[in-house]
Amino acid sequence: MTRYKYEVEGSVLSGAVSISGAKNAILSILACTLINKGVTYIENCPFLSDIEATINILKMFGCQVIRLDRTIIVDAGSCQYTAVPSSMTSKCRATLAFLGSCVARFKEADIAMPGGCVLGPRPIDMHIESMKAFGLDITQEESVHVTGTFHPGTIQLSYPSVGVTENILMMAATCAEETIIKNAAREPEIVNLCQYLEALGVNVKGQGSSKITIKGKEEIAQEAHITIIPDRIEAATFLIAAAITGRDVDICNCNPGHMTRLLTLLNNMGCEIKTGNDYINMHKGLLEKELISPLYIVAKPYPAFPTDMQPLIMPLLCLTATECTPSILTDTVFPCRYVLNSELKKMGARVHVIESLARNKVNIRSTVVEGMEFGYSGRFRPAKDLVSHDLRGGAALVIASLGAEVGSTSHIYDNGYIQRGYENISEKFSQIGGKVNVKLLK
Ligand code: UD1
Repeated sequence: MTRYKYEVEGSVLSGAVSISGAKNAILSILACTLINKGVTYIENCPFLSDIEATINILKMFGCQVIRLDRTIIVDAGSCQYTAVPSSMTSKCRATLAFLGSCVARFKEADIAMPGGCVLGPRPIDMHIESMKAFGLDITQEESVHVTGTFHPGTIQLSYPSVGVTENILMMAATCAEETIIKNAAREPEIVNLCQYLEALGVNVKGQGSSKITIKGKEEIAQEAHITIIPDRIEAATFLIAAAITGRDVDICNCNPGHMTRLLTLLNNMGCEIKTGNDYINMHKGLLEKELISPLYIVAKPYPAFPTDMQPLIMPLLCLTATECTPSILTDTVFPCRYVLNSELKKMGARVHVIESLARNKVNIRSTVVEGMEFGYSGRFRPAKDLVSHDLRGGAALVIASLGAEVGSTSHIYDNGYIQRGYENISEKFSQIGGKVNVKLLK
């Protein structure tokens, strides 16, 4: 396993940073290229380890994949069915997207159970139920094995799962009759995938709403072009860092329309923010401000506050809440996603998890943020023993370390999580005055 040490200096940020293409959009679109016997051109592709892992799976199927800087070209014309072993799926949960594209292309799929971030239990029951609902046969042991023919129809999802919606879209894409997904996920990455399906000549309606109708084509062999949307989670990372410790930071090449909940929250907290079509300017952040009223943030499916921004906002809550005005953060998407707390405590944060009474048999867990230990109201205490447990939690520690006393150094030990979702994080922060030095550990 590759291990890294991030040496991060408490900094004051200003300047401009450019946002890369969305990791979660490109991963499902790459998996989906398998259904196209023509050539796909994907623009605005960042350099991320999850993308390389996904490209390796495409190559294993026999796809020809070429990268020309930020363009990835995939020719899946002569690929062949194969099982995807655990050695290919262990590092990235997005490999589940190959379930849908394999069924669509080969009428069969065998995908080893995926890896990915440690966010608590991540069952795949909804994937299995939805495939059964469309007439497919499934067995699940160390891998998920799917056979049979996709029978179109209408499905009402019990929860708007991103991955399940993506898989159904892909399976339905090579079916000439109509499929309707009710309670579909509405995330911008779903809309981006649908744009790609449209580029393949598939008829899709309702994407971005909770009812998507799709009428596919049995044979897809199309030269297709698609541009990856900006990464809203990466944009949020720089925006929140700027809110904590910045002045006049421009977040360029992003889509503020995909981040309205976060922008509203930051505005309400007192940040001075301007937005244009493709940029956000953090004119004045919250340096050394205390909250006057407590915040209650609930992470839910889009368009609500996203679970992936939940760890990122934590450092900001720590620096603005107080014991008398605590903030509460509840993640309903991944209810165990609070491992970051123990690391923030090392930096002086006063945070703890509470469990509410079970409602609908689901225990609700929340983090209560009571600000900082005495003497650390405006900045974090630097720490040299921070450990990143997952991708966004790791990025949150970078934000907190930038928000430590100016000139102090914090160390974050990371098993490659951060590079799964952040391209050149050290260079990008240095463009806005943040000192993030990444060292490879032996
Ligand atoms: C995607 C994103 C991830 C993001 C999440 C929610 C990618 C590669 N990843 O993950 O970054 O945090 O959406 O926005 O796009 N669930 C089940 N059974 C299932 C499937 C899901 O119980 O069969 C649960 C999950 O455990 C989780 C919730 O449903 O609690 C949401 O999962 P889902 O929307 O499917 O997320 P992913 O597609 O895995």
